[in-house]
Amino acid sequence: MAAQQDAGQWVLRRVEGTAQEVPLGSMKGQLGPDVVDMRTLYRRAGVFSYDPGFANTASCMSAITYIDGEAGILLHRGYPIEQLCQKASFPEVAWLLSHGELPDARQKARFEHGLMAEAHLHEQIRNFFNGFRRDSHPMAMLCGTLAGLSSFYGNQGADQRHRITSEEREMSTLRLVAKMPTLAAWVYRYSRGLPLIYPRPGLSYAENCLHMLFSMPEAAWEVNPVLARAFERILILHADHGQNVSTSTVRTVGATGVNPFACVAAGVAALWGPAHGGANEAVLDMLDEIGTVDGIPDFMNRVRNQEDGTRLMGFGHRVYRNLDPRAGLMRNICHEVLAELGMDHDPRLELAMKLEETALNDEYFISRRLYPNVDFYSGIILRAMGIPSSMFTVFFAVARTAGWVAQWKEMLESRAGISRPRALYVGPDRRDVPAS
Ligand SMILES: CC(C)(COP(=O)(O)OP(=O)(O)OC[C@H]1O[C@@H](n2cnc3c(N)ncnc32)[C@H](O)[C@@H]1OP(=O)(O)O)[C@@H](O)C(=O)NCCC(=O)NCCS
Repeated sequence: MAAQQDAGQWVLRRVEGTAQEVPLGSMKGQLGPDVVDMRTLYRRAGVFSYDPGFANTASCMSAITYIDGEAGILLHRGYPIEQLCQKASFPEVAWLLSHGELPDARQKARFEHGLMAEAHLHEQIRNFFNGFRRDSHPMAMLCGTLAGLSSFYGNQGADQRHRITSEEREMSTLRLVAKMPTLAAWVYRYSRGLPLIYPRPGLSYAENCLHMLFSMPEAAWEVNPVLARAFERILILHADHGQNVSTSTVRTVGATGVNPFACVAAGVAALWGPAHGGANEAVLDMLDEIGTVDGIPDFMNRVRNQEDGTRLMGFGHRVYRNLDPRAGLMRNICHEVLAELGMDHDPRLELAMKLEETALNDEYFISRRLYPNVDFYSGIILRAMGIPSSMFTVFFAVARTAGWVAQWKEMLESRAGISRPRALYVGPDRRDVPAS
């Protein structure tokens, strides 16, 4: 992995005088703007930078995902998301993220075989579920059982971070991607009191997700290829998205040398928050609240007036100031799924489309460069497929595991140091404890 170093120089200069000038290096990635190299800032200038939320800070070098939020571009290993969504399977994308290239036929067959072989969970995991209340939040169960898996696969990780072999890293990434759908489905089945269903050989990754969610032991379950492919494309669209909160968490936690199952459980915890993984559920709540297209003008007035912080959920993004490229793809999938299910005149879809059209032509949204994001249509699709909204984030986690393990592996291979941000201290000055 290479970044062009010293592609010019930046100078840090104190405003009130030119006496103190500190030259800083400049770096250039393969794509994107110039980068100021801050690594020697404190040593050379005796100052540090303040960047809460790290919006201006690259925490690592990565060759996995490139996002141009201004132009609405998302590339994985150089491939546009639109092409991956159309031409690749989820296992191919997972392989691509971790290995840098799409798999050839042999690699693909071996990887798919490995995913099937590793999809089973240790039988004792069933006991873990019995410890949860049935009405536990599905993400609580996912997070807990996933962290628990580290007790079964203690040696496949990073207890000795710089000494684990590449084979062990491969095995851990395979196991995590393979076992997540089973865990996710069991979370759902347990919460409904349904029998736990095992992965079925011969089904694809996406088909197995649906099989383990919806099969019943007493009836043969038939794959609907349109729904399975739609579900697969939803997984692809969520597979990775650069250094977002959960991915940064996985990298940060992973750099300490912890077991990869515990590390991905930390990613799941980060994703759980409604400000990260829960927005598609919020879109459905909003549509229910608006009710019908007649409710749009009133709702839009509340948004424009920022009444009680009302926002158009599924619009806007921290990074994209243009159409999130995943949003248009999601809209197409939504139409396909609802047509397949004979729901193409679904009032919720009509409402969403009218809302989108209204917002895209509204000065409030135009001037703030707010466009639909990946969450605007995904909730409608998942709900139509019969997946309850409390499970949306769980399947987001299944998809994102492909990205998390790729980023974890890249972090280990780059031998990154552990993260240790500073704080701009604003507490009391030094003082003495009063005499008692
Ligand atoms: C994603 C999100 C948090 C990004 O926030 P952000 O980058 O901090 O955007 P800002 O808060 O800087 O927004 C800039 C302006 O647009 C407004 N805005 C942003 N998103 C908005 C939305 N969805 N609806 C209405 N107004 C919105 C803000 O109120 C702000 O207005 P102001 O300048 O008058 O104060 C935000 O767009 C949002 O809350 N979206 C809805 C939730 C959602 O869909 N999340 C999923 C993201 S993938």
